[in-house]
Amino acid sequence: MAKKPTINFVCQECGYDSPQWLGKCPECGSWNSMKEFKISRVAEGAKNAVSNNLVQSKPQKIQEIAYQKTSRIQTKYEELNNVLGGGIVNGSATLIAGDPGVGKSTLLLQLAISLSFEKKVLYISGEESVDQVKMRADRIQQQESGTRDQGLGKKQNHDSSFMIPDSEKNLYLLSLTDADAIVEQIVEMKPDLVIIDSIQTMESQNVSGLSGSVGQVRYAALQFIRTAKQYNIPVVIVGHVTKEGMVAGPMVLSHMVDTVLFLEGEKFAKTRILRSLKNRFGPVDEVGIFLMEENGMQEANNPEQLFLTQSGEQVPGSVLVSTLEGSRAFLVELQALAVTTRLPMPRRVVSGIDARRVELLLAVLQKHCHLPLDTMDVFVNVAGGMKIADPGIDLGICLAVYSSFKNIALPKTVGIAEVGLLGELRMVAGLEKRSKEAEKLGFKNIITAKKYKSLREVLNKIKE
Ligand code: TYD
Ligand code: MG
Repeated sequence: MAKKPTINFVCQECGYDSPQWLGKCPECGSWNSMKEFKISRVAEGAKNAVSNNLVQSKPQKIQEIAYQKTSRIQTKYEELNNVLGGGIVNGSATLIAGDPGVGKSTLLLQLAISLSFEKKVLYISGEESVDQVKMRADRIQQQESGTRDQGLGKKQNHDSSFMIPDSEKNLYLLSLTDADAIVEQIVEMKPDLVIIDSIQTMESQNVSGLSGSVGQVRYAALQFIRTAKQYNIPVVIVGHVTKEGMVAGPMVLSHMVDTVLFLEGEKFAKTRILRSLKNRFGPVDEVGIFLMEENGMQEANNPEQLFLTQSGEQVPGSVLVSTLEGSRAFLVELQALAVTTRLPMPRRVVSGIDARRVELLLAVLQKHCHLPLDTMDVFVNVAGGMKIADPGIDLGICLAVYSSFKNIALPKTVGIAEVGLLGELRMVAGLEKRSKEAEKLGFKNIITAKKYKSLREVLNKIKE
């Protein structure tokens, strides 16, 4: 007798599931987000079939378990290898999330092409036809060889992957959205790397709901991840991030995959920053810096200095900070503008930093250094499209605001310290690394918590 399908209610925001409908999701607290979805028996059967080899039924003694050392696929992109902790781990599932249009497909296609000489790569696109993917590939390759011939770009010099004649490339394209059919293809072909672009387009008849819904996304991801583990094939999954954040997809997925990378960048700037948010095989919060050029993504030559604007002379309102991202220190220019306002609620417009952090620092400046910032609009901006959460830039923010307020330039000044509520300066992690990066570029005036105890002390010194 055919069994009735099980009905479940799944929160579209976070993926919480419950046998009955609830008005408010107990997991993430969002209202009216539960949607009904059916799991048919076929789906469960399929699940078991895939998982049988993976899940063992008996506990084993720890000393009896033999494992293979994780082997990794080295990519030609050092920045990517770094972020991953040394390359793509075989049998791992990696999620690359980011806004639509930020360059996920471009980066992964480049990765696929560059690996296709030694490895068999399967690139599955649910968004574009194979013609479109091929067109993109041609665009990347033509120009890649062009830049290389001119000898531009330090890191492209050793690159030979784009010179491979087409006949030797082992790159297979497939335009398909049926998750089950894709798994079949992977099992049949057994490639060395699978790229799924994107998880939101995947669907299966075994679950109800449109593609992109939590049910579909979760089902498809589960199938891919299981296949990856079972056959030791690494899979890289693209996930779009919607306006509301990591809704329906990446949020649910991040618990399932081994590694979550986030590609971020401003629409109108070239810089793209790849961050690891979760990594079972390597460090988190390591970053990789790329530039989106006409010819695809290029690795930045001197990423540590990429966020410096090139102008030679110093103007009021601009200060350098040294921010630590993973194991590297980046020099970044902060810009502030403080102008008198008639508004009863002065404006605070901030980009690239947490706005509340800036408000707090403005309050400290007002209370402890007697700047009348309550009558001023304040704008603070991180140059180059970098987003910074590092408290080590606090001092830099204060200096930039002060510099704009007093209308004095602070030439060759780098601020590296956290500022407390009492106006005191605090030491930050990796001070030596940060200072060294600044010294390398000839910045002599490095203000740290070693030399000064409070913000007031620093500002008094500047006044002299
Ligand atoms: P894409 O990789 O399609 O973004 P995603 O997959 O994350 O949605 O990137 C598309 C954008 O990148 C588009 O605005 C055009 C631009 N682009 C370049 O600037 N140079 C290139 O070589 C390519 C292929 C795209
Ligand atoms: Mg894409």
